This record gives sequence, C-alpha cells and structure tokens, in this order.
Amino acid sequence: TSFVIVILLQSLLFHVYGRHQSSSKNILVDSSPFPSDFLFGTASSAYQYEGAFLTDGKSLNNWDVFTHKNPGKILDKNNADRAVDQYNRFLEDIQLMSFLGVNSYRFSISWCRILPRGRFGEINYLGIKYYNIFIDALISRGIKPFVTLNHVDYPQELEDRFQSWLNPEMQKEFGYLADICFKHFGNRVKYWTTLNEPNQQLILGYLTGKFPPSRCSSPYGNCSQGNSETEPFIAAHNMILAHAKAVNIYKTKYQKEQKGSIGIVVQTSWFEPISDSNADKEAAERAQSFYSNWILDPVIYGKYPKEMVDILGPALPQFSSNEVKNLEKSRADFVGINHYTSYFIQDCLTSACNTGHGAFKAEGYALKLDRKGNVTIGELTDVNWQHIDPTGFHKMLNYLKDRYPNMPMFITENGFGDLQKPETTDKELLNDTKRIQYMSGYLEALQAAMRDGANVKGYFVWSLLDNFEWLFGYKVRFGLFHVDLTTLKRSKLRYETSDDSYEARSSHVT
Ligand code: NOJ
Repeated sequence: TSFVIVILLQSLLFHVYGRHQSSSKNILVDSSPFPSDFLFGTASSAYQYEGAFLTDGKSLNNWDVFTHKNPGKILDKNNADRAVDQYNRFLEDIQLMSFLGVNSYRFSISWCRILPRGRFGEINYLGIKYYNIFIDALISRGIKPFVTLNHVDYPQELEDRFQSWLNPEMQKEFGYLADICFKHFGNRVKYWTTLNEPNQQLILGYLTGKFPPSRCSSPYGNCSQGNSETEPFIAAHNMILAHAKAVNIYKTKYQKEQKGSIGIVVQTSWFEPISDSNADKEAAERAQSFYSNWILDPVIYGKYPKEMVDILGPALPQFSSNEVKNLEKSRADFVGINHYTSYFIQDCLTSACNTGHGAFKAEGYALKLDRKGNVTIGELTDVNWQHIDPTGFHKMLNYLKDRYPNMPMFITENGFGDLQKPETTDKELLNDTKRIQYMSGYLEALQAAMRDGANVKGYFVWSLLDNFEWLFGYKVRFGLFHVDLTTLKRSKLRYETSDDSYEARSSHVT
C-alpha cells in the first residue's frame, strides 16, 4: 500500500518538478510516513475558480458586490465574474488532476448557487445539479471530493438584511445550507469542512476592514463603519457556533449512514519569538492564541484560549452552558490546516513597538519580518506576506500535535504565490524554480513532522490553477498549472507555453 502512495507522491512531485527536477534535490527521501489512505490533492474555492457569476440562478455574493463597487481595491481592478471558468471547464480541470496523479480535490460550494437568498428563498436545484455532476465526474476518475461548505462567499442578501456573521441568525442560515449539502451530496462526499479560515476572514473583514463587509475602526483601518475592538470577536462567536451547528446536524442526521468525517479549516502561521527572552516567548504564545487557537480551542475544547480570556475580559463573548454542551457534542473529527509562512514575534507589553501588520492592539505583540541586523525568518517571496520557512511548518505541526493530541489533521492548503509584475514576461511566469524550492522544503518538513508523530492524513497544494487571489486579483499566481488570462487556457505544465494547452473538453453543463 505504501507503494501506491510513493507512486502518487512521485507522480505529483514529478509533474510539479517537471524539467527542473534535475536541478533540485531529490526529496523522496522517506515515503514511510505516508499511510495507504493518505490524500494528495490540490485545493480551490468557488469564488476564486468558478466564474459564471449569474449562471443557472446564482445570486450575487458579498465578493461580487464588493469587487463591483470597489474595483480600485483589487490590485488589477478585476473581479471573479469569470474567474478561471471552472463552472464550464471542470472536465478539463479533472483531466489535469488525473494527469498529476492526485487522489483528492478540495473545492467549496457556492452558497449563492444552492440558496441564492439564504432561507429567505427557495433551493436552486440547478446549483444542486451542477455539484452533483461535478462530484460524479471526480469520482469516476478516482478523485475523492473534499468539500468546504463555505469559503468566504455568502449571499449578499444576508449581509443587507441582518449583517451576516455579526448576527446569530447566521448560525441558522449556515446550518440550513449544511443540511442541504449533506442530504444531496453526502452519499458521495466523505470529507467535509465547515468554514474556511474563519480567523483570516475575521481579521480582514472586521479588524482591518480590507475584505467585505469592510468593517473596522481606527487605528486598525479606514472604514465607514464597524468596531475593530469588539466585532471580530462577536463574528467569531457566531462562526464557531455555526460550525458546531453544522457538525451537529451531520453527526445526528447523516454520519451513521454516510460514514464520512467533518472538520474545520484554519489559517496558521508559525510565530517564532524574536529573542530568547521570556517576554518574547510569551508574546509568541499570545500570537498563536489570537490567531489559530482562537478558533481551534473552542472547536476542540469548548472554550477560548486562556490568553484571550485574560486579556480581553468582558470584550470576549462567553459560551452559555448550553453552547458549551453543543460544542462538546459537536467535536470536529479532524482539523484542516492552511499554512504558508512564519513571522518573528516581538513583545510590546514590556517594550514599546509599533504593532502594525494586522495584529490586535490588545495582544501586545508585533509581527516582524527580520531580527535586528536583517536576519530574516526565511526568504521573503514577491508576495509581501510569504516567507520560505519549512522549519516553521515543522514546528507548527508539532505545536498542534501537542496542543490537540491525537487530533487528525489535513494540510488543506500549502503553496507558493508568484507576484506578476508589469515587466514579467510569459516565459518567466512559466519558470517554476521558486515554487519547486518552496514545495520541496515544505514537503520534507511535513514528512519530518509525521515521523515525530503528527497525525496528518492528507496534503493539498494551493492551488491547481492560477486563480483570483482576492485583493491581489490575478496578479498573484498560485497554480501548479499556468492559466492564460485572455484565453483561459491551462498550460499542460507550468513551464510549457500556452500553445501546448489542453483544449477545453467540456462546455456547458446540460
Ligand atoms: C488561503 C485561502 O483559503 C485561499 O482562498 C487563498 O487564495 C490562499 N490562502 C492564498 O492566499
């Protein structure tokens, strides 16, 4: 059985590495950490990939409205109305997956296709039909669907009517969506996650206000509404309880018969103390607490991290005893870990520092890119938030293994973004040396962590294709396959020219 996995890994890496393989080190040092049921796949999300933004009854979501109203906030002033048109080209994309040799695909459901008006309207059966056909097509190629119920996008109507995640109503809305998805797709989908990166969404949507719903207060950002000191925590509370509601529905109504598992996905970064002082070490621990433990502790243990309770006091909402019971009986089966980068952390409680960089003031720490004298934590990539630090990934997985013992983990995202500058030529876009270096290091770190005992069940590369990278538009390219943005042709491999592209083998879903 481990033989099969070696083949899969080799296949994935061979094609990722392509012609550059000879110039990079051989990373297939030890395949034994990968058990027979290990999932290898690529990851994506509905808004970033599907396009077809008004097709077959889909309504407008928060990102449709945000990008249409504020094109200036997106680096290339673009939007994902068309994205990479996976809605129409999914058969071609599945062929690319087969070509890689992966055995799973992570994608998300567009809420607006299934429930264009949330619970205020009807189920859209054309949306159900689309995902049914997509799921069947994946399975027929031996690719297991790994489905995110919600990846950032939700019907705008829920924002307009009751402020979405700031309102407990959203828990019911999300539970309703989840129930419909389990009912229609659960006979074939065996891996579910509820929310993608609530922590990132909260920070960007309610602390700095850079993502919709664009809520924040000074000095965290420049928004016309919101309160950065309180709203991120209120919205988080509703997201955590919405997650628990979906898990509860799955466990009580579906899991016995459908025999799948369900988890949540958080964004993680490794926070390395900038010095050996206790103050900096404690600051790094606070950073973990206010970032990923913020979501994982309640989901796994039914309570917020101690550091948050101590610092925020009454500003942190409390779970009622009923809610605690619900969280306990709706424990996730696994956690999904998205991981891309590391930062140095400096304490700001005992020394003055400029907190900047998205951190909450109350946490009393600053994210730093380098130590004095420019010792960086890893090479800074062209994307201003990503440093190449595989050691940090290894440490992160060990940290999670110790904090949440025996919890199965999937690496639901890891990948490398290239920033396309005005002068970048097509040829340069296809040259993949840095991505190879990045992934090689991170896959080695994954193997090392698994040898240390981290219970990792799968690994998904972000991303199959270049796609709409939120505020960076199409300027940041994460794809194993290059996409020509004019023709939407996928290159066979990243280093090949678009002349060699696969022809689209599908058009509209019928
Ligand atoms: C995490 C998010 O889930 C995904 O949507 C995003 O594109 C990648 N990180 C890369 O930034």
